[in-house]
Amino acid sequence: MASLNLVVLISGSGSNLQAIIDNIESGRLDARIACVLSNRPDAYGLTRAEKHGIPAKCIDHTEFASREAFDSAMIEAIEPLQPDFIVLAGFMRILTPNFIHRFEDRLLNIHPSLLPKYQGLNTHQRALENGDAEHGVSIHLVTEVLDDGPILLQATFTIEQNDTVADLEHKAHAVEHLIYPQVLEWLAQERLTIRKGQPHFDEQPMEAPLQFTGD
Ligand code: GRF
Repeated sequence: MASLNLVVLISGSGSNLQAIIDNIESGRLDARIACVLSNRPDAYGLTRAEKHGIPAKCIDHTEFASREAFDSAMIEAIEPLQPDFIVLAGFMRILTPNFIHRFEDRLLNIHPSLLPKYQGLNTHQRALENGDAEHGVSIHLVTEVLDDGPILLQATFTIEQNDTVADLEHKAHAVEHLIYPQVLEWLAQERLTIRKGQPHFDEQPMEAPLQFTGD
């Protein structure tokens, strides 16, 4: 068992960050957050981090001439911290291949759909428009293709007849706050390991995403 050293990247409210902090503080998750980084100065997640004594820093992407220059500044901030995993929690910037390769096998993202369905934005709206009966959230490894890396864990919920985008957002957040800490707990326990892009669970190469049941 290893205590995980994490860096969390955010762009907004940081409710997933909060769920991770709460799980660490309650002793359920054996981890520490070395730093929270935001690309937006007004991200409320920065305040959440500060309230819990976690180093928090904004690297404002609008101050950089290119995506590459922004990512280089991010790499410079992250590398000295030697994180076991970099947790993207509502981080709304596309990362360059240079960044992704630098942290291969250590980059996690949460996406509000049952990937590979609805990569990209407006996932709840698209699920409603398609008349889907079910929707959900996924945690996956970040690869060069957006929202396309190996899926680690998914949680599914029912779309009720009168559900709105706000309802789905609410349902998605509720399960997100359970499954990110769960994945991190398995990584800390080394039940879940990533070897050259291939997730293993209990030493077996995973052939399909794990499904969250809440057990
Ligand atoms: C989540 O719904 C996540 O799936 C998406 O961005 C949202 C972040 O929410 N990538 P929060 O900032 O953690 O509250």
